[in-house]
Amino acid sequence: MAELAALAENAVREHPAEALGYSPIDGLPALRDQIAARFATPELQLSRENVLITTGGMQALELLGKLFLEAGSTIAAQSPAYLGALDAWRPSHPRYHAMDLAAADCDPHRAMDGARFAYTVPNFSNPTGKLVGTAMRKTLIAAAEATGCWLVEDDPYGMLHYDGTPLPSMIGLYAKAHPGPYRGPVIYLGTVSKELAPGLRLGWVIAAPEVITAMTTAKQGGDLCTSGLCQRIVLDALSSGLTERIRPATLALYRARRDALCRAMSDHLGDLFDWEVPVGGMFVWATAKDPALDTDRLLRTGLDHGVCISPSSVFDPEGRNHNAIRLNFTLNPPEKLAEGIRRLAEATRSLLLENAA
Ligand SMILES: Cc1ncc(COP(=O)(O)O)c(C=O)c1O
Repeated sequence: MAELAALAENAVREHPAEALGYSPIDGLPALRDQIAARFATPELQLSRENVLITTGGMQALELLGKLFLEAGSTIAAQSPAYLGALDAWRPSHPRYHAMDLAAADCDPHRAMDGARFAYTVPNFSNPTGKLVGTAMRKTLIAAAEATGCWLVEDDPYGMLHYDGTPLPSMIGLYAKAHPGPYRGPVIYLGTVSKELAPGLRLGWVIAAPEVITAMTTAKQGGDLCTSGLCQRIVLDALSSGLTERIRPATLALYRARRDALCRAMSDHLGDLFDWEVPVGGMFVWATAKDPALDTDRLLRTGLDHGVCISPSSVFDPEGRNHNAIRLNFTLNPPEKLAEGIRRLAEATRSLLLENAA
């Protein structure tokens, strides 16, 4: 916190024109260069023409809608899907081809056929916290190439990896097979929200230059530019190594909270829900053992017991799927997580009793 405050003061004192004036629409050139350098590999050759700075990851999702969607267009989307993305695209009333990327019979080629773009969160998805395996990542890329569909890789959680080794990004996998200046079908979205602070509202798109140019035009009609002050803070946070320095403490804190939540779940919810312990991210996805348990109703009963869950229906474009819940473990300390789970168990049992009556 103190370090961010110092960066903010330094930005205003030392770079007043950049921090307080209008920025270029596509972002401060030095920040675009910094993001390009952060993600480039010998195969994935990136320059600032591949990078657009956005006002949070959310703006990138909204710009994708502005760029690619007309009324009734089709999106191939990982299911269940991030609620914020569904909200961003709702004004176009899109149709969805759902992709359950964990299912053995998932056929991305079929889902992407006729879709304007495919939307995925391969690392610790919001809401399920699950990883998409490397083989499925390759299948998605192959389907994008075969169908001509853009493939959106939304990656806010990739750095929140608690166990095991990170999997290769789809943009990186594409570049391995097509080394050189990047012009591929993967549109990669990043944000500082989960590694620095969501209040900075700072994200980025890495994509083929023609996508960046078109998204920049769309951004012009939105907010003209992302806050120069926030861009300057993030530039200095990245170039001074602040993000790397704070990462071990962030990971240790979140890992301990995940363990506390999952321990409490084993103690209180084992006979009520099924779940997997996530290896990263912020969420546990739990499916009710009783198919008659309606988690929209559990939301209300939970609130009566002083605990809040996200019901699965909000992560479905048509509001279907009433049998699972998303639990966040990063926001609260272990004691509060344990108490929340105890109350959730109480709420679930009372709802099941009501069902049985
Ligand atoms: C999958 C996903 N994408 C995008 C966002 C938006 O992040 P922000 O606008 O804070 O960068 C979030 C936020 O929770 C998210 O979970």
